[in-house]
Amino acid sequence: TRRVRARDLLAAKERGERWAMLTSYDQYTAGIFDAAGIPVLLVGDSAANNVFGYETTLPVTPDELLPLVRAVVGATRQTLVVGDLPFGSYEEGPAAALRTAVRFMKEGGCHAVKLEGGRHCAEQIAAIVRAGIPVMAHIGFTPQREHTLGGYRVQGRGDTAEEVLADARAIAEAGAFAVVLEMVPGDVAKRITAELTIPTVGIGAGPDTDAQVLVWQDMAGLRTGRTPRFVKRYANLADTLGEATRRFADEVRDGGFPATEHTF
Ligand code: KIV
Ligand code: NA
Repeated sequence: TRRVRARDLLAAKERGERWAMLTSYDQYTAGIFDAAGIPVLLVGDSAANNVFGYETTLPVTPDELLPLVRAVVGATRQTLVVGDLPFGSYEEGPAAALRTAVRFMKEGGCHAVKLEGGRHCAEQIAAIVRAGIPVMAHIGFTPQREHTLGGYRVQGRGDTAEEVLADARAIAEAGAFAVVLEMVPGDVAKRITAELTIPTVGIGAGPDTDAQVLVWQDMAGLRTGRTPRFVKRYANLADTLGEATRRFADEVRDGGFPATEHTF
């Protein structure tokens, strides 16, 4: 077995094969997802929320994400690992973007990088691609711009569909190898998927994209409480872990653990 490459994903699109992507931020989940055949893992800046407990993705830094990227890369054999460039690390222009992307490749060891932006980030994407680093773009709702976008809102409804389409064309023209479409109407995602030769990865973008991505703690039900409408829970890890924890604590209290077989 060998690592998935960006070109394999293009070939999958040509064959009409869909694939799943997940976030991962640590060695155990990365190893499980790799063994389960997930071809692409994203060390998302959503680590801000899902690892570090920040309210938004804005505070997380390259210094915080890079050790997580190394952990995920080290625990995988087949998966293409994408490192997510955090807010503030690429907006200043192509030089800043390339500098951060190079850090992610050298220090993180990932195989591609992702950044949020369409037309306004085309120069950054082109500069990174010129350096031989595959770039995944991210358009539609982009959490790093939530204060401008007015919170978590569907992008591209009605007349604004053309805006999202223009972003899709710009990132493809700039050389991105794939694009995340977040919270865009299903019909807009379908149009973009049909028009672009590169794969589209939907999250809250309906059933017609080439791939789907979810945050792993949402997919596996580790996050409790209200989740966005686009999330489907495939397990209930929060309950499983809570139950195990209560049993461990109970057995310690009542003397059931450790038993003779745990004792030297
Ligand atoms: O950081 C993240 O988790 C993401 C995905 C939701 C695409 O950008
Ligand atoms: Na992200």
